[in-house]
Amino acid sequence: MKKIPVWIDCDTGVDDAAALLCAHKLPQAELVGISAVAGNVELEKTYANCHRLTALMGADYPIYKGADKPWFRPLTIATYIHGEDGLGGAELPLPPLQNRPEPAWDALYAAARKYEGELELVAVGPLTNIANAVVKYPDLPQYLKRIVIMGGAAIGGNCTPCAEFNIYVDPHAAQCVFKSGIPVVMCGLDVTMKAYFTDGEIDAAAAAGGDVRRFFRESTRRAMQFCTGLGLPGVSFHDVCALFYVFFPDMFSGDEGGVYVETQSSLTLGKTVTDIYSDHQFEHHNAYVVLDLDRERFVKTITELLAEY
Ligand code: BDR
Ligand code: CA
Repeated sequence: MKKIPVWIDCDTGVDDAAALLCAHKLPQAELVGISAVAGNVELEKTYANCHRLTALMGADYPIYKGADKPWFRPLTIATYIHGEDGLGGAELPLPPLQNRPEPAWDALYAAARKYEGELELVAVGPLTNIANAVVKYPDLPQYLKRIVIMGGAAIGGNCTPCAEFNIYVDPHAAQCVFKSGIPVVMCGLDVTMKAYFTDGEIDAAAAAGGDVRRFFRESTRRAMQFCTGLGLPGVSFHDVCALFYVFFPDMFSGDEGGVYVETQSSLTLGKTVTDIYSDHQFEHHNAYVVLDLDRERFVKTITELLAEY
């Protein structure tokens, strides 16, 4: 089987963790590198969590440290959902940290060049690392196959009424990435809010499991309480959508359009403005906006991948 090379850039919280666990067990995936960015929690924690996760899965992927703060704004974190440690208090042991001096953007660029246009970039945190790569290496777009982003929303928001968390945290970096010329797939809240597990589905996926499945159960408890408290049917695994889009595009549907990020207004800061609901009026259609998925298949696929542990 020809494997698909993939790079994951994440702010390792609860759903980022699920994406990493799934990526490791996808037979079609060649996970080339992981980079950490500040987002759900501070960079030192997201970076450490990447190590915790790879140790848990018994893997040894290269992990790179990225940006510790957004381009211009103070860091906003999301401990109210991911917990102080970013992993819902699941208490994974911390293995020795890798000693890689290159920052995330240098390592990503080197990998993109090595794979000569085949590398799929899955970005599931604020886009600071990727924007740094774009600015430092203007030829990066020609070496990436595309970027699949968990971020934004055609409609609504979760961090503010208009903005999704990853984009809100660093809207200027996000705008740089959307305008970079890298083909973008946006898995925003339109689709990811439909990509949820109920409490019973988490129990079923975690049943009779070892350490990994126990972690899946423990790490999601706090988020489940938070989400059901809001009246939602379960916890969304937002970041897994972006990963799965690379490997199972037929699980999803959406529309092509233009997407640009609001960086000026205080009321709508971080909104991903798209023309898919307004006659496709933007001159340049830079993105595919994912809008829906087969939830049953999504739940089944994660459950099956976790059962591999
Ligand atoms: C996104 O924000 C983070 O809290 C999650 O990890 C996900 O990437 C959802 O808005
Ligand atoms: Ca994330």
